Amino acid sequence: MKPYLHRFLTALIIILLIPASLFAASPPFSKDELDTIQSHLLDNIATQNNVLSKPTSNSLMQSKAGAVIASPSTPSNEFSMDYMLSWVRDSAIVMDEVATLYQHAPNNKEQAKLKNYMLNYINWVNVTQGQKPIHSGVSTLGEPIYNINGSIWDGKWSRPQYDGPALQAIALMHINYTFIQAKEPQWTHTNQDNVRILIEKDLNFVAKNWNRPSYSLWEESMDQNFFTEMVQRKALIMGADYETSLGNTKLAAYYQSQVKGIESLLSKHWNPGEGYYSEGLKQQQFKGGSVNISVLLGALMGDTGKLDDPFAPDSDKMLSSAFFTRVLFENLYFVNLQNANAPMLGRYVSDKYDGNQFLYGNPWFIATDAMAQFYYTVADRLQAKGALTITPYNIYFFRQIAPEFNLRSGMTLTKADNPAEFYALRQDLINQGDAFLNTSKDYADCYNENDCLHFSEQVDRVSGDQVSAKDLTWSYVSVLTAMQVRSAS
Ligand code: NOJ
Ligand code: NOJ
Repeated sequence: MKPYLHRFLTALIIILLIPASLFAASPPFSKDELDTIQSHLLDNIATQNNVLSKPTSNSLMQSKAGAVIASPSTPSNEFSMDYMLSWVRDSAIVMDEVATLYQHAPNNKEQAKLKNYMLNYINWVNVTQGQKPIHSGVSTLGEPIYNINGSIWDGKWSRPQYDGPALQAIALMHINYTFIQAKEPQWTHTNQDNVRILIEKDLNFVAKNWNRPSYSLWEESMDQNFFTEMVQRKALIMGADYETSLGNTKLAAYYQSQVKGIESLLSKHWNPGEGYYSEGLKQQQFKGGSVNISVLLGALMGDTGKLDDPFAPDSDKMLSSAFFTRVLFENLYFVNLQNANAPMLGRYVSDKYDGNQFLYGNPWFIATDAMAQFYYTVADRLQAKGALTITPYNIYFFRQIAPEFNLRSGMTLTKADNPAEFYALRQDLINQGDAFLNTSKDYADCYNENDCLHFSEQVDRVSGDQVSAKDLTWSYVSVLTAMQVRSAS
């Protein structure tokens, strides 16, 4: 072959093989925008320098370093709740992300700063976990909320909530691994032993109590809840690995044996006739007991990363659940008439909580961002597996996002045999994730010209204005986490 012809053919082949992803649109959030979001998030975490104070009936309460407030909002004319409190759930979700931010920190200074947040958090857990119980029938680990000074919050509330210790253990184990991996000099054996006590306290609590009902993550329904079980399962799976690495095989085996029990409970949430997992087990007709974004949040926060995990985000039943979740919200909110590509999503269809008078439920940023993360995660796992078989369960999910494909049940697409279709479908998933984050971003607020990208908890379903708690810490985390999965996928 003539050399130029050879070169021409090589160039042609390379062009044909360039995956579609290289032509992908620019990411929904730039590096600078993510930095802004990160700084909004860190504003809500108390440190030695960032001391938060809160007026109480007789004094001014000062924050203890390590307190993560859910939001700076306290009761006002438009808002009837108090979010200047530390929820165990929200705080653990935030700190789990801080560990990831530390891993990706661009320089030593940034890393040292983030390290301090994690060390503070460990102290915080030590103090909160060590409180004496104050509500009858509720152990300290079942308490959902603490004051910013670390004492148990005594307002009238839905107690107990059992997802907290699981999420907290996950965050602490993640922090521990992160420090060990980074060979953090401050992470001495003594520190590792101390955090181990906190982790085991949470894990032992989870191992003993997963079979008991508690209030759901939305704090409304006392049941055996899917989200709670998913994060409990992940905590014990991670816990078993953790104990194994420490040579503690007996404890590892104990945690592992409880995982089996949780999995059999989880599988009872499947509704074969309807095609989705329900959040509640006994109260499916009550407040979000059936289709609920929490099922997908459970798939994401309970993701074990194992390719053959039956409860993984890309498992058939989870994909089917995702299909129904999206469909239900699409037609529910007036604002979605403008969001044809990617609707804003809420918690569950009959939700009434609006942060104030309980008139009507709204779309939430964390719900919409979770769907984005879900699509990115499925793209990532598709890539890792290299093959996809269309089944009667997952066909609706894939048709919903890739109507251009003539998908039929029984069909298999592999990277090796059908690269064009395979990569195009993977790109469709990423594009869907982007569309959801872009929808979310459309509702971001500016407080003034140079102070933008603020996210509250909810968006009014009619006007599109931000409502309920302002600057919700969890809303910021949900953007950062989704974008991390995107860059990994
Ligand atoms: C009632 C809401 O429905 C619930 O989900 C929320 O967590 C609490 N109020 C606290 O705001
Ligand atoms: C209301 C949500 O329902 C709950 O999950 C969350 O923990 C609190 N708000 C605080 O953000």
